[in-house]
Amino acid sequence: MPAQIGVTGLAVMGANLARNFARNGYTVAVHNRSVGKTDALLDAHGDEGDFVRTESLEELVASLETPRRVMIMVKAGKPVDSVIEQLVPLLEAGDIVIDGGNSHYEDTRRREAELAEHDLHFVGVGVSGGEEGALLGPSIMPGGSKQSYEALGPMLEKISAKYDGEPCCTWISTDGAGHFVKMVHNGIEYADMQVIGEAYDLMRSAAGIEPAEQSKIFADWMKTSLSSFLIEISAEVLAQVDAETGKPLVDVIVDSAGQKGTGRWTVVSALQLGSPVSGIAESVFARGLSSQRTQREQAQEILAGHETQVELPENFVEDVRQALFASKLVSYAQGLDMLGSAASEYGWELKLDEIASLWRAGCIIRADLLDEIMKAYADGQKPENLLLAPAFAEAIAEAIPAWRRVIATAVQLGIPVPVFSASLAYYDGLRRKRLPAALIQGQRDLFGAHTYERVDREGTFHTQWSGDKTEIAAVSTH
Ligand code: 6PG
Repeated sequence: MPAQIGVTGLAVMGANLARNFARNGYTVAVHNRSVGKTDALLDAHGDEGDFVRTESLEELVASLETPRRVMIMVKAGKPVDSVIEQLVPLLEAGDIVIDGGNSHYEDTRRREAELAEHDLHFVGVGVSGGEEGALLGPSIMPGGSKQSYEALGPMLEKISAKYDGEPCCTWISTDGAGHFVKMVHNGIEYADMQVIGEAYDLMRSAAGIEPAEQSKIFADWMKTSLSSFLIEISAEVLAQVDAETGKPLVDVIVDSAGQKGTGRWTVVSALQLGSPVSGIAESVFARGLSSQRTQREQAQEILAGHETQVELPENFVEDVRQALFASKLVSYAQGLDMLGSAASEYGWELKLDEIASLWRAGCIIRADLLDEIMKAYADGQKPENLLLAPAFAEAIAEAIPAWRRVIATAVQLGIPVPVFSASLAYYDGLRRKRLPAALIQGQRDLFGAHTYERVDREGTFHTQWSGDKTEIAAVSTH
């Protein structure tokens, strides 16, 4: 029987996705550059379903039903191009090449256009959920042509995570939209992880709450609006004791956070789109700062703190929970707003309710909150910003006093809370009647005749700063 899908690249994610297809009743052709990995997969898991063992891409392609579906699961970047180059001559018009890695969406846009010239479909698919998700049901964000989704979508939906029986997979939009949405998911993931880290640091450094006790607090928070995968795993990490030293594991882990790049990509493309994802950006910068170990070591000796000892607010832990909730909400709002900007820029029709809905299970940022977010955009509702949806405006309003108290306390104690504070600054910036941008416009007009608009009438104006300082109507140069 011909295979319904082929997977090339059998490292953990590729192998687990192949197994997921097979466990769901699909015949899966598998290929890896070194046959050893293919055999290791088949030896260990060959009895989980119908696999077709292949030793070359030619064999892989020959084993597939048409239109052929070939999923590339190799490292993002050049390796993807190299596999595509080998595949193209082997394929026929109408076949579908799928990239399930964390590729940059601009690469996906380019590849989609290149393969379209050969009448081939190229589908960039965002897959979230780590190794376990790939095996048991990830959240899946496919881009590419709508037509390709007809042949591919049902299979992806079958292997995806389910929320109340609904697949966490839906066609996102054309070309690189799937990978773009996955990238923004990762940006939110970074911010979500950082705000949890800030909450931990505050409870530890300001209130002296040890990791084991915090683990219980995080477990309790699972019963609140914060309930999410990342809170759940944080409780698990904080409960872990190092076998060697008997210390909390978190105390023996070096405090420098790694990053593979998707968070950074989110911020770079947000800057290009002019999208103010300040909380997400601060979370990427916080990882960067944590990794500057030499500078940090020297700064510990040289830089003064002058912290002020303060009495902690009553119910400090509950304050921290509320500050965490509000900051987290801002990160989601910023990520979704960025999706809106990208939709206009790239001509994608991004449905924010559907995107929120497929993040409800399977992915790293899965959280109870996402069900509420989905509802905020459902039935054609289009709040300009998530925070303006009545349910969220109300929820955040309740958290504000605690949010301000926590940040003020952190500042006095010298505990950095970059995402808590950037998120509050964003929130205040959004709601403030007048921003100092008016002064910036004045400065720009003075040194560069960049012109400004007036609050009281239409048009573009310039003050003749070096002359008699009278105002003239001007042609805008922005
Ligand atoms: C997911 C994750 C995953 C990501 C890792 C590592 O959704 O399953 O986002 O795709 O690559 O979490 O990311 P960093 O190394 O950048 O932290």
